Amino acid sequence: MEKLSIEAMATFCKKKGFVYPSAEIYGGLAGFWDFGHLGVELKNNIKNEWWNYHVKQREDIMGIDGSIITHPKVWEASGHVENFEDVMLTCSKCNEKTRADHLIEEKLKTNVEGRSVDEINKIIKKNNLKCPKCNSDFKELKKFSLMLKTSIGPLEDKSSISYLRPETAQLIFANFKLVSDNARLKLPFGIAQIGKGFRNEISPRDFLFRCREFEMMEIEYFVHPDKAEKCPSIKEVENEELNFLTSEMQQKKQEPKEMKVKDALKKKLVSEWHAYWLATEQKWFTDLGAKPENFRVRQHLKEEKSHYATDTWDLEYNFPFGWKELQGIANRTDFDLKQHMKFSGNDLSIFDEETKKKIIPYVIAEPSQGVERAFLVFMFDSYTYDKKRGNAVLKLHPKLAPVKVGIFPLVNKLDNEAKKVYDLLKSDFNSIFDKSGSIGRRYARADEIGIPYCITIDFDSLKDKKVTVRNRNDTKQIRVKINDLKETMGKLIDNP
Ligand code: GAP
Repeated sequence: MEKLSIEAMATFCKKKGFVYPSAEIYGGLAGFWDFGHLGVELKNNIKNEWWNYHVKQREDIMGIDGSIITHPKVWEASGHVENFEDVMLTCSKCNEKTRADHLIEEKLKTNVEGRSVDEINKIIKKNNLKCPKCNSDFKELKKFSLMLKTSIGPLEDKSSISYLRPETAQLIFANFKLVSDNARLKLPFGIAQIGKGFRNEISPRDFLFRCREFEMMEIEYFVHPDKAEKCPSIKEVENEELNFLTSEMQQKKQEPKEMKVKDALKKKLVSEWHAYWLATEQKWFTDLGAKPENFRVRQHLKEEKSHYATDTWDLEYNFPFGWKELQGIANRTDFDLKQHMKFSGNDLSIFDEETKKKIIPYVIAEPSQGVERAFLVFMFDSYTYDKKRGNAVLKLHPKLAPVKVGIFPLVNKLDNEAKKVYDLLKSDFNSIFDKSGSIGRRYARADEIGIPYCITIDFDSLKDKKVTVRNRNDTKQIRVKINDLKETMGKLIDNP
């Protein structure tokens, strides 16, 4: 089935109560979105699944929750105040603002991340690129900081300036010593965080893909600097298949190649740590129902890499508007810890028991995933339209589904019996009770919002104390004893 366009997905999400333009009654605000009664549940389920997989089920990763506004020096040390900017084009006639890299990518299919302002200017002029709105020439292009400023306290002067964080990562570095000491962590280990990030994007677009306020799920994974080559957990993922696109393959205009991790390692296409994290991250998505054929792993070109990174791979997804970054996995070496040592004057090194020396760990991989982009992946990969049923069926994994169970009395006379079933299940599984319209209409409504199981209470239920459980994906039905319902629903949701 053809994927929905991003506009059609935004319309579907609004109509069904997943996502609304923020404060739409005032006309909305570009780059800001509000999550509705189903969207908030899906988003929370995504974050919970991520936290379970990356933190709770692992001994080597601990979580933190840092503040959104923090000491401004953090952002000077990280390089964001100086470097976190994009090149902006302003139309000489209509004043429309456009991101230069997006326009070049759209018109010339070339990635210009990391190129200087002069180089970008030349590309714009050489290719005679015009304002996408009114087709006029641009004014001289300008750099534009993506940092969202705020001021703290009553004095609105220079000393009160701070920033809403553009990433959660820096709070992990700033708290590195406290967390590693207090949690008695031994290398290699990770520190994870989920939280809001803010970026003053020049041209937010593509629905949730590029927002000005969004959530991130990030891990900084620290390794011994002398052991940065070997990943002790690589065996866990060596048979995972990934679609590899190295920087060399891109330069030679080759297509991505599907390969097992162990084969890519043999060919030295990727480092062990990058392979480990790319495979671990893709597996998180596919275990939750995303389609493996929509993923690829792409190495950044030399000129594309961030100021701090020595090697970066992106986990990419085939969005309706092309292959785009889902998650960046950057090798940041000891850049951040050293910067924070320099700017704060504090020693952030840790004691290595083996060599009896102080060391500054390397961050070889920084799996950093936007919640909204994950939200889009699960929505796109689960959306189907069933012609036979005549309605959309959102085949979300039951663990992600906002509502797990729909409870329907066959006729109004059975309301009381059905309510008892609802009361039995509602505290364990997010459930809805629906008695309006025909059973067919109720099933259709449930399919459209992704309810994986619908329970119908009929006249036989009064006699045999059993109910009918209908599976959303194939519409198959089974009879289950009311006494066994809790256990059966738990099993069906965990292992559909
Ligand atoms: N700490 C690393 C970091 O911030 P990034 O690639 O700039 O790296 C990480 O951002 C992830 O956050 C991206 O891969 C993407 O999933 C998400 N993200 C970044 N900018 C976003 C935006 N404007 N809107 C929605 N998600 C965004």
